[in-house]
Amino acid sequence: MKERSFTLNEILKMVKYLKVHSKETVYSILIIIGSTVTMVFLPLAYKNIVDRGIMQRNLSNIAYNLLLVVLLILLKEGFNLFQTIISSDIRQKVFSEIRFDVYRHLQEMSLNFYSKKQTGSLISRIVNDVDALEHLMTEKFVFLLRDFFIVSAIISIIFFFSYKFALLSLLFIPIFALVFRTFKKTVYNMGKKVVEKQENLMGNLQETIAGVETIQSYDTSKSKLKEVNHRIADTEKTKKLLYIRRALAQSSSVSISIFSMVLLWGYGGYEVLEGRLSMGVLIAISYYANNLIEYITDAFNIIINMQIALPSVRRIFDMLDTEPEIKDRENAVELYNPKGDILFENTCFSYEKGRYILKDVNLSCSANTFIGIVGESGQGKTSFVKLIQRFYDPVSGNIFLDGINLKNIKIECLRRHIAMINQETFIFNASIKENILVSRGNIPMERVIWAAKIADVHDFIISLPEGYDTIVGERGMGLSGGQKKKIAIARAVLLDSKIIILDEATADLDEFSEKSVLNCIKEISKDKVIFMITHKLSNLSFADRILAVSNSKILEYKSLQEYRAFLESTAS
Ligand SMILES: Nc1ncnc2c1ncn2[C@@H]1O[C@H](COP(=O)(O)OP(=O)(O)OP(=O)(O)O)[C@@H](O)[C@H]1O
Ligand SMILES: [Mg+2]
Repeated sequence: MKERSFTLNEILKMVKYLKVHSKETVYSILIIIGSTVTMVFLPLAYKNIVDRGIMQRNLSNIAYNLLLVVLLILLKEGFNLFQTIISSDIRQKVFSEIRFDVYRHLQEMSLNFYSKKQTGSLISRIVNDVDALEHLMTEKFVFLLRDFFIVSAIISIIFFFSYKFALLSLLFIPIFALVFRTFKKTVYNMGKKVVEKQENLMGNLQETIAGVETIQSYDTSKSKLKEVNHRIADTEKTKKLLYIRRALAQSSSVSISIFSMVLLWGYGGYEVLEGRLSMGVLIAISYYANNLIEYITDAFNIIINMQIALPSVRRIFDMLDTEPEIKDRENAVELYNPKGDILFENTCFSYEKGRYILKDVNLSCSANTFIGIVGESGQGKTSFVKLIQRFYDPVSGNIFLDGINLKNIKIECLRRHIAMINQETFIFNASIKENILVSRGNIPMERVIWAAKIADVHDFIISLPEGYDTIVGERGMGLSGGQKKKIAIARAVLLDSKIIILDEATADLDEFSEKSVLNCIKEISKDKVIFMITHKLSNLSFADRILAVSNSKILEYKSLQEYRAFLESTAS
C-alpha cells in the first residue's frame, strides 16, 4: 500500500522538472523573497504612523510613513504581478515537457501494456493526470514555497516584538497539522476514486464512439447511453463528495484562523491596557497576525489540494517508472543488410501464464524463401510473426536472425528489416502519399508510385481529384477495406525490407487484385524472406514451405501439395 503523503522521491522528481528551468525558478524565488520583505516592512510603517506620527503629533512622520506604505504596497503588487507572469512561463514549459515525456514513454511501451488498457483511459492519463501534476508543480508548489517564506518571516518578526505573541501564533500550526491529519486520508482516497472513475468514464466514452457502428447496428445505443449516463453521474457524485470534504477542511482552517485572531487581539488589547505594549505595535502585530493566518490558511488549502492531486501525480510517475517490457539491451547491435536467416530454438510463448500459444518450436527459415503459414483461427499465426518482430519475447527459448539473438539486436534496426502488413490496417489521418511514406520523407515520388503500382492501387489513387495528396483516414475520405489494405501493401513494399510478413494481407481484395498483388510480391521477393499467413490455400501455390500452426506446435510441409495430402489423409 502506497503512502498517503508525498514521498521524498516524488518531491525530488517534481523539483527535477523545475530545475531544468533554473533561471525562471531563481527569479521566482527572488520575487518571493522580495514580496516577503515588503510584507514584513508594511506593518512597521503602520506602527510608525501610530507611534511616531499620531501619538507624537508629528505630521512629517505621518506623511513620510504614508509614502512608505504606498511604495511598499505598489512594490508588493508589482512582485505579485511578476510572480504570476513567471509562474505562467514555467507552467507552460513544464507542462509541455511532462506531457511530451508521458507521450514518448507511452510510445515506447510494449504491446502487452496496451493490450491491457483502454485507449480512453490512457488519454485520460495524458490529459487529466498530467494537468493535475502540472498544476500542482507550477502553482501549488511555488505558492507553498512562498507561504513558507512569508510565514517564517512573520513569525520571526513577531518574535522580535514579543516572544509571547510569537508563541501564541505558533500554537496554531499544530492545530492546522491536526486538522490536516484528520482529512488527509479521506481526501486522498476520494481523489483516487475520482481519478479512477474519470479514467473508466473516458475509456467507456472512447469505446462507444469508436464502436458506434456496431452499437447502432445492434440497436444497443439506448443501453450504452444509460451506461455512460450512469458513469457520468457516478463520477460527478464522487466529485461532489470530495468537494464537500475539501470545503469542510477549508472551513475548519478558516475557523481556526478566526479563533486565533480573537486570541491575538484579546491578548494584545490586554497588554495595551496594562501599558506593556504601544498601540502602534498592537496594530503592527495584528496586521502580521492577519497575514500569518491568511498565509497559513492558504498553505493549508494548498496542502489539501496537493493531497487530492496526489493519486494523479502518482499514476503519472508510476507510469514513467514502468520500464517497457521489450527494450534494447545495453550492448544491442545494429544489423546492416541481414541475409534473413531466422531460427527458432525451443521457443515457447504465452500471453498468460500456463496457456501456451507456442511450445518448443524449433524451426529454421533460410533467406530467399516464401513461407506459407496456415492454421485455424486463434491457433497463434499472428503471435508467431509478432515474435519475429519482437513485439513480444518468448517465455523461454530463443529466436535468431542471421545467428544473432533478436534480444541482442537494436529493436528499431530489427523492425527496419521487417515489413509487416497486418490483419487490421491502420490508416493515418493524412494524405495517401504520407500514408504510404509513413514519415520516411526523403523517398522520391517515383518510388511511391512504384510501390502503389505493385499494390495495384496506383490507378485508383490517380482517379481521385487530388491524387496522392487526397486526405484519407479519420477526418478524410473514406476508403474501402480493400483500398486500405492496398495502401498498407504499398507502405510495406516501399520499405524494401529483407523480411516481409503478410498477415491475411490480401484477404480483403477481389480475386483479380489479389492475383496481381501476389504476382508482384513474388517478383520483388527474389532475395527476401516472405511469411504469408492465409486461410486461402490456393494463394500458397508457389510457397517454398508451409508451416501449419496447431495446438501450440508448428508442423512443416515442403509444399502445398504435401500439406493438402496431409489434410486429405486426416479427413479420411
Ligand atoms: N494480446 C493478447 N493477450 C492475450 N491473448 C492473446 C492476445 N492476442 C492473441 N491472444 C490469444 O492468442 C491466441 C492466438 O492468437 P493469434 O492472433 O496469434 O491467432 P491467429 O492464428 O492469428 O488467428 P486468426 O487466424 O484468427 O488471425 C488466441 O487464442 C488469442 O486469444
Ligand atoms: Mg491472426
